[in-house]
Amino acid sequence: MTQNVSRRDFFKMSGGLAAGTGAAVAGLASTGAEAAAPNTRATLPYPAKAVGKAGGMKVNEPVSFGYPDASSPCQAIKMGQAVPGGVGPNQDIVAYSILCTHQGCPTSYDSKDRCFKCPCHYSIFDAEKNGQTVCGQAPTSLPRIVLEYNARTDTVTAVAVDGLIFGRQANAL
Ligand code: FES
Repeated sequence: MTQNVSRRDFFKMSGGLAAGTGAAVAGLASTGAEAAAPNTRATLPYPAKAVGKAGGMKVNEPVSFGYPDASSPCQAIKMGQAVPGGVGPNQDIVAYSILCTHQGCPTSYDSKDRCFKCPCHYSIFDAEKNGQTVCGQAPTSLPRIVLEYNARTDTVTAVAVDGLIFGRQANAL
């Protein structure tokens, strides 16, 4: 059965449909807003791991350690002058995951240039400036190992990681 619908009726019907659809979308949007969880940041179970005594570290010589576990190679360096985020009596001790953020090759600290260099595709990371990429294909800075300093015991302790360690979905496994 066919039915003749005037242009006027057609627009009336489509308007009603559009209004109905709009209400439905608005309903969905408000449902989505209500369902959205509040800003929840995951707190990873980072261990506290002693890196060494600040007084025992030599300027510009890396100290190797694993953090947050033994399969994640890191190095701490006493830069010899205060640097952003540095800890210790002179705010000059920093630490990084040494795995390159491009494809995960272990980088090496170059004491002459005071940076980490990747042997695979030659990315370079500035140890004095938050491990940021100076050049090369690495898309992000080296993950920073968050350190704490206890002046009473002169101990430097790793307590967290700022940045994602290459090859991991979460830093703490
Ligand atoms: S793995 Fe380091 S630059 Fe490619």
